[in-house]
Amino acid sequence: MSVKFLEGEDGSKLKVLEQDGFSIPTFPFPTHAQEYATLPTWKARDDDLLICAYPKSGTHWLWEVVSMLKQQKAERIDAIKEWNMLEGIQQANFDSLPSPRIMNTHIYFRHLPKDFKNRKCKILYMLRNPKDVAVSYYNHHSKVLEYEYSGSWEHYFTRYLKGDVDYGSWFEYTLDWERVMEDNPEYPIHTLHYESMKQNSLNEIKRIAKFLEIEATDDLVQKIDDLCSFEKMKKEKNKHEDVNEWKDKEPGMYRKGQVGDWKNWFTVAQDDLFDKFYKEKMSKSKVKMQFSV
Ligand code: A3P
Repeated sequence: MSVKFLEGEDGSKLKVLEQDGFSIPTFPFPTHAQEYATLPTWKARDDDLLICAYPKSGTHWLWEVVSMLKQQKAERIDAIKEWNMLEGIQQANFDSLPSPRIMNTHIYFRHLPKDFKNRKCKILYMLRNPKDVAVSYYNHHSKVLEYEYSGSWEHYFTRYLKGDVDYGSWFEYTLDWERVMEDNPEYPIHTLHYESMKQNSLNEIKRIAKFLEIEATDDLVQKIDDLCSFEKMKKEKNKHEDVNEWKDKEPGMYRKGQVGDWKNWFTVAQDDLFDKFYKEKMSKSKVKMQFSV
C-alpha cells in the first residue's frame, strides 16, 4: 500500500492511496494507510447499515435521509457522512459509534469488512448517471486540496473514461455491483437512482423506509424530504466542513445538485465519444441510466 500520483495525459497528477491496483483518496490523518489496511477485519453489528455508491452519486443526500429515517425524527443530523465513511476513519472511531451505525463507502463489495457480509448487513446502493458524475467529480478533484490536482476539463474527461481516479472507473464499479447482485440474490441490497430521488423523492424515501422496515408517516417523510433538499443541506451542512481542506477555503460538497448539468460541460464531440464508450462498456449490462429529466 502506498501513496502515489495518478498521472494524466496532460501531465496532471492526482494523489491517491493505492493497494493492489485499487486506489482511494488519502485522508489527512497520519495513520490512515494502517487503518485502511485493517478494514477487512473490522467487526460489524447486525443493525449496521451501509450506503454504497460511486463518488458524487448523492451519498451525502442519502446518508442524511437515512439517518433521519432511522432516528424517526425530521431533525438535522449533527454530524457529517465523512465521520462514518469506512475507508476514511479509524477503527477505534468505528467501534465507538453508537448503534445503529449508518456507514457509507465507495469501495467495492469485495473490499468490505468480511463481518458485514457474514451478518448480511443491509446495503443501500445508489447510482447516478455517469455524465453528471464526471462533472461533479471533476469539480471535486479540482477543489479538494488533498488531491493536489489541477487540470482542465478537456483532459479530465479522458482521465475519467480511463478510470484514472480514486475508486477507479465508474463503468467497472457499476458492472461489479450488477454482478454482486446477480451472484448474491439473497443479500439485502436496495438500489436507488439519484435521478429518481430528484424526480420523486417522497416515493423514494418511502421505498427506503420500507426496505429498512421503518414506519414512516407521510408527514415524517414530507418533513425529512424538506430538510434534505439541496438548498437546505447546502446552507446547513457546510458548518461541519473544514474550510482548510478546500481550495480558496470554499467548501464545495454542495455544488449544483441537478440532473443534466453535464450539458453545460460536455462538447458535442465529448458527448459522442462518451456515448460510444458507454455502449461498448455497458453492452451486457441491464442497468438503465437517465441522463436528463
Ligand atoms: P453536483 O456536484 O452535481 O452538484 P456525493 O454526496 O456522493 O459526494 O455526491 C455529491 C453530489 O450530490 C453533488 O452533485 C452534490 O451537489 C449533490 N447533492 C448533495 N446533496 C444533495 C441534495 N440534498 N439534493 C440533491 N443533490 C445533492
